[in-house]
Amino acid sequence: MIDLEKSIVQRIESGFLQENKVELFFKRDDLLHQEISGNKWRKLKLNIDKCVHQKSEGILTFGGAYSNHLVATASVCSSVGLKSIGVVRGNELNAESNDTLKRCESYGMELQFISREEYGLRNERYYHEELLVENSNYHVVPEGGANYLGMIGCQEIISEIDLEFDSIFVAQGTTTTSCGLALGLDEDQKIYVVPALKGFDSFDEMSVLFNKAALSQEAIEQIERQIVVCDQYHFGGYGKYTNELLEFIQFFNKEHHIKLDPIYTGKAMFALMDMVKSGVLKNQKVIFIHTGGIQGSQSIIDKTGFNFYS
Ligand SMILES: Cc1ncc(COP(=O)(O)O)c(C=O)c1O
Repeated sequence: MIDLEKSIVQRIESGFLQENKVELFFKRDDLLHQEISGNKWRKLKLNIDKCVHQKSEGILTFGGAYSNHLVATASVCSSVGLKSIGVVRGNELNAESNDTLKRCESYGMELQFISREEYGLRNERYYHEELLVENSNYHVVPEGGANYLGMIGCQEIISEIDLEFDSIFVAQGTTTTSCGLALGLDEDQKIYVVPALKGFDSFDEMSVLFNKAALSQEAIEQIERQIVVCDQYHFGGYGKYTNELLEFIQFFNKEHHIKLDPIYTGKAMFALMDMVKSGVLKNQKVIFIHTGGIQGSQSIIDKTGFNFYS
C-alpha cells in the first residue's frame, strides 16, 4: 500500500549552508502518500499489523479538529478494510466543520465529538473501557499515534538512511517520532528536536515512551545525552504561527521546491536555519526528517488569505 522507496534522501544545496559547512539532506517521508504521509504511516503501520493479527474490527483513536493523525487513520483503515472511530476534541464541531473532518468522514470514520473536559480523559484506561462498551473489538491508539508500536515504526526511518550523518532534525508533538528516531541512532549521533508546543518538557515526555521500550536506565541516559531540545521555535505555541514563519515557508518552497507546514515542519526548518545563522549548528551532515503534515495547511491558507505555497 505504501511504497517506502518514495521516501528518498535528497540533498539541499545553498550558498548559506555551504559557508557554514552544513550539509543538509531531507528524508522525504512526506512523499510516501498524500494523506498517510510522513510519520503518520510510520506510527500506524505496526498498529494496523496488530489489528490484523488480533482480528480487531478497527482502530479507535483521538484527535483535534485539524488532526493529521485522524485523517491518516481514517484513510489507512479504509484502504485495508478496517473500521475507524475518531473521538474529536470539541462538541461544538461536526463532520462538516472543516476539510480535515470532512475527509475523515469520507473515509468512513465514525466521528464522536466530545467536550474539551471529557477529552482530558483520553489517556485514561477506564475511559477507553467506557468508549469500548459498544465497540469492544477495537484497538485503541492514543492521540497522535503515540504508543510503543508507533515509536518502533518510526525507528525504521533511520535504517533507510544509507548515508553517514552527524545529526537528525525533527519536529516534535507527542515525541513518538523523535523517540523512535533516537532509538535508531549510533551513540555518536545527535537528534535535534523542535517542539511545536510552548512550555513543553521534551525530556519528560520522551522518558514516558522510552520506559515503554523497557530500556535500562543506563541506555536511557545515553540516549538523553544525544538529544538537543530546541524549544525557542514554537511561535507562540501549538497551532500558532506568525507572518515571519509563513513567509519563511514560502521562501523555502520557492528556493528548494519543498513544502513545509506551519504547525510542525516549518517551525523545525526555521529552527535549523536560525541555528546555522547563529553559528550553533556548523560543520555537520544533517538529516531533516520531513514528517508530512501538508494536508492541514489549506485551512491556514484559507484563514489568512496568504497562499504560502504560491
Ligand atoms: C507533520 C507532523 N510533524 C511532526 C509531528 C510530531 O510528531 P510526534 O507527535 O510523533 O512528536 C506531527 C504530529 O504527529 C505531525 O503531524
